[in-house]
Amino acid sequence: MIGYPHVHHRVTDSTNARVRELAIQGAPHGTLVTADEQTAGRGRQGRSWTAEPGDALLMSLLVRGVRPLLPLAAAVAVCDAIEPLEAAVKWPNDVWIDRRKVAGILLEGRPQEGWAVIGIGLNVRTREFPPELGDSATSLALAGGDTTVADIRQPLLEALDRWIDAPDEEVLAAWRARDALRGEHVRWGNGEGTAAGISDSGALIVETPRGVRAELDAGEVHLLR
Ligand code: BTN
Repeated sequence: MIGYPHVHHRVTDSTNARVRELAIQGAPHGTLVTADEQTAGRGRQGRSWTAEPGDALLMSLLVRGVRPLLPLAAAVAVCDAIEPLEAAVKWPNDVWIDRRKVAGILLEGRPQEGWAVIGIGLNVRTREFPPELGDSATSLALAGGDTTVADIRQPLLEALDRWIDAPDEEVLAAWRARDALRGEHVRWGNGEGTAAGISDSGALIVETPRGVRAELDAGEVHLLR
């Protein structure tokens, strides 16, 4: 079972940074670092990730044996763990409830050395978000969930344990069943189009107005509301 060894910090800069250090020192697959509070939480695309102390599950897990669909598998695991709340995934791995982000996932690591850190920030008890997030964020509590940061950790580890090693076809099927963007008008870089699912390698397929199909395998897409 993953989640051992487990180091918990009351405060640290970033749990991903802590696991990265442990990985370089040779820590085993499944090593877990959690924190009540991060002073320099990292998000995707160089953004930061903030949460009030004790309101969010802040965790990073070391995975040895990295495969391309790992970012998608992690998102599916988060969705499973928070059932019966109904969650969807915004490509590649933002977890949404009612079209608001409840969890973010940041994968970092050294694929050439066969390891990655899965960093997950899951808003559990948060009832107010900074104004700059507007109405784009939510929490399990706001969505009607009745759990605590401590109680959600084990179901999430169990779901990660299952999905990290699940066959590609199962990860793709589960992800596609939760695709929040399919059929939606999206914008990326300087392109615009309609999201049309993901390829078997996990790339986002977009159909542009000129009938061209583009496959985005990295970066950020924005939903045009
Ligand atoms: C995103 O959506 O931009 C990804 C956010 C990932 C945040 C988590 S919180 C725990 C772990 N430690 C970090 O510094 N980042 C991830």
